[in-house]
Order: sequence, then C-alpha cells, then structure tokens
Amino acid sequence: RVVAVILVGGPTKGTRFRPLSLNVPKPLFPIAGQPMVHHPISACRRIPNLVQIYLVGFYEEREFALYVSSISNELRLPVRYLREDKPRGSAGGLYSFRDYIMEDSPSHIVLLNCDVCSSFPLPDMLEAHKKYGGMGTLLVNKVSAESANQFGELVADPETNELLHYTEKPETFVSDLINCGVYIFTPNIFNAIEDVLQQKKDRANLRRISSFEALHSATKALPADYVRLDQDILSPLAGKKELYTYQTLDFWEQIKTPGMSLRCSGLYLSQFRHASPHLLASGDGKRSATIIGDVYIHPSAKVHPTAKIGPNVSISANARIGAGARLIHCIILDDVEIMENAVVIHSIVGWKSTIGKWSRVQGEGDHNAKLGITILGEAVDVEDEVVVVNSIVLPNKTLNVSVQEEIIL
Ligand code: GDD
Repeated sequence: RVVAVILVGGPTKGTRFRPLSLNVPKPLFPIAGQPMVHHPISACRRIPNLVQIYLVGFYEEREFALYVSSISNELRLPVRYLREDKPRGSAGGLYSFRDYIMEDSPSHIVLLNCDVCSSFPLPDMLEAHKKYGGMGTLLVNKVSAESANQFGELVADPETNELLHYTEKPETFVSDLINCGVYIFTPNIFNAIEDVLQQKKDRANLRRISSFEALHSATKALPADYVRLDQDILSPLAGKKELYTYQTLDFWEQIKTPGMSLRCSGLYLSQFRHASPHLLASGDGKRSATIIGDVYIHPSAKVHPTAKIGPNVSISANARIGAGARLIHCIILDDVEIMENAVVIHSIVGWKSTIGKWSRVQGEGDHNAKLGITILGEAVDVEDEVVVVNSIVLPNKTLNVSVQEEIIL
C-alpha cells in the first residue's frame, strides 16, 4: 500500500506569488485550468495500490475544504487536508501527522512539494526505489549551472545512483544535478526525523545549561521542533546507503512566481495533448473561435467565434472573450471580460477584471524577470484603447492611461 503526502505550505510562504496569492492560496491557483495541486494529485493516481492522499499545510482548513471534497469524489480516492498548528518545516510537517499516515500501514510514502511542475514519473520511480533498497529515493534533474543554486544541489554515484553528497542552495557551485522536491520513502523516514528532533532537543538543553545561547543566537531563529527535509535529513544521510536518486529526463520546473506559473501552464497544456486531449479546446465546429496550439477553455466561458486564441492560453470559468480578441500565452481567470479587438499576450488577467475595446495587455515573455509578464490582480479595469506593458497591477485599480514597466499599487 502507498500513501501520498503533498506539502502545500501556508500563507507566510508563497509571498513571491503576489498579487495572485492575495485571492487564493498558491496551491489552488489555476495552472492549465486546474488548481496547481491538482497536477501532482492526478499523477499520484497512476501509483499502484495508492490508498490515500494527504495535503499537509498551515492554511486555514476552510480554504481547502471545497477542493478536497470535490477532488475526492472525482477521483473516488480519499484526499484529506491536514492542518499543522504552526509551520514545522517540510519534514516536521510530515512527522506531525505520522499517526494518520501510518493508519493504512503503507509500505511506501510518496512525498511531493506542491509547487513543482513535472510529469511526475512516480510508478517508475517506485520501481527503481524498490530495486535500490534504501530508505528514500529523490527525483533529480539536470539544470543549467547558473540556475542550480536556487535548489538543493547533489552528487550521485553514476553506477548505483546512491546519493553521495547533498547541499541545500549552496553559495558556491557543487553540481548541476538538483533535488526536484519529489520523494519516495519507506516508513523509516519517521525514525530518521525522530532522531533529528531528539538531537535538536539535546542541543537545546545543552545550550540552556551552558548558556551557550547568547553566543549562538543565530541558531535561535528556528524552533527545536522545526525540521527541514533537505538540510536536516538529506544532507546528513547522504553517502550512508540510505538515499538514492532517480533522474527525470522529462520536463521539470519550480513554480515560485506568477511568471513561472504561466510557463508551467504551457508545459501542462502540452502534456494534455497526449495524456488528456479531451481537456483541450478543439476549435472544431462553425461557431468556435480559431484555436492555435494548446488551449484550455472552461465549459462555462463564452468565446466569440471571431476571436483567435493560443498557443498556451487557459481561460477559466465564466470568462467572456469578445469579437476579434486575440489571446496568446496567457491565463485568464474567472469572470474576466475581454472586449472587442483587445489583445492579451504573456499576461495573467485576475478574477473579474475587464479589458476594454482595442486595448492591449502585454508582457515581453521573460518568465524569470520581475516584470517579464504583465499581471493584473483581481477586479482591475483597463479602459478602452489603453496599453499595459510589462507591469503588475494590484487589485481594484482602474487604468485609463497607458503604462509600461510599472508596479501600480
Ligand atoms: N506543511 C508544510 N509545513 N509545508 C511546508 C513547510 C512547513 O512548515 N515549509 C515548506 N513547506 C512546503 C512548501 O509549500 C513547498 O511545497 C515545499 O514544502 C518545499 O518548500 P521549502 O522548504 O520552502 O523549499 P524550496 O521550495 O525553496 O526548495 C525545496 O524544493 C526544491 C524543489 O522545488 C528544496 O527541497 C530544494 O532542495 C528543491 O530543489
């Protein structure tokens, strides 16, 4: 039996995702028309003998209530949200719910960060893990040497795939092989976390006795029951024949910013072409708009037949797209209205926003730059014939003049 746990974090995380995370917890932000967390959840479905999925985080319970009940029904698989009373770190969060997780007596626990975009090759990874015979297997990926320091960098044995060395976001280059935030563990992971908790407690006691604390005040920042999977577990266990790696050759990205959510939306839409083509707009039929490439349109959205949409566009519920509108590389959220002949390129248009006739909302398409795409928060009104380029607009603003490279607060 297998239990999957998806780490969703909480409201103090995901601040780089503003202004979009002001409305909805980042894990529920729509990517390719589905909540971010939906993609790892549907990947988990392919694991043989999966009995339960837990989402672990410190958001309010009610924020996830609707989603977990609808996805449980849809998948006919129990999906449950477990709320931590406070942030305990990625391993601490997992550990605090060990009793729930062990209820089903799983032989394996699949652990996933919610903010990664991947084809999640979980069944193959599970097979590899069983062959390696260790406590855990990490999904790893090769990235450019310049970008590697945003991740956990690691060295693996090319023959046995054993994890030999692990450093979290090092300042000096270690390796271009990085940790993808996707793991398979045996239940022994709980013993490993318990050991670390015990060591931390012992050290805290020692400090109290020797009033060591004043000298080492930097270590005070993290509470003794806060355990990070990467620094506290992976680093010390590397090279001990406990941890192994499985390299993905398919797509993998991290989703920390709105720009990356737009890029990942495109990656998932192109995956739909093979995996779930029924989710993509076909553009067939006389009354349909012209569709180019991979496009998702929610069934309740209304798109005028003279509009031209795609590639990489996702249009959420109740959006209305007017005659002659042109949309390329964008995410259009619920209840947005885009009027006649407006153009939207490399942008995210927030809930209930309106874009006037002949207006143009555009980014240059650099997903990593701060102002590389244009983002309109909730209920932004762009009036007729206004041009918005490479800008971020906070919720409830009206734009009646054109702007470029601006953050409108
Ligand atoms: N439940 C819970 N509680 N979840 C948490 C907590 C916590 O206290 N802290 C972080 N998370 C969740 C986040 O929501 C995210 O899904 C995941 O755990 C990892 O978040 P971070 O610990 O902030 O690390 P990171 O995303 O900067 O980097 C990690 O992931 C990279 C891959 O995306 C590291 O493991 C890197 O090594 C790795 O490359």
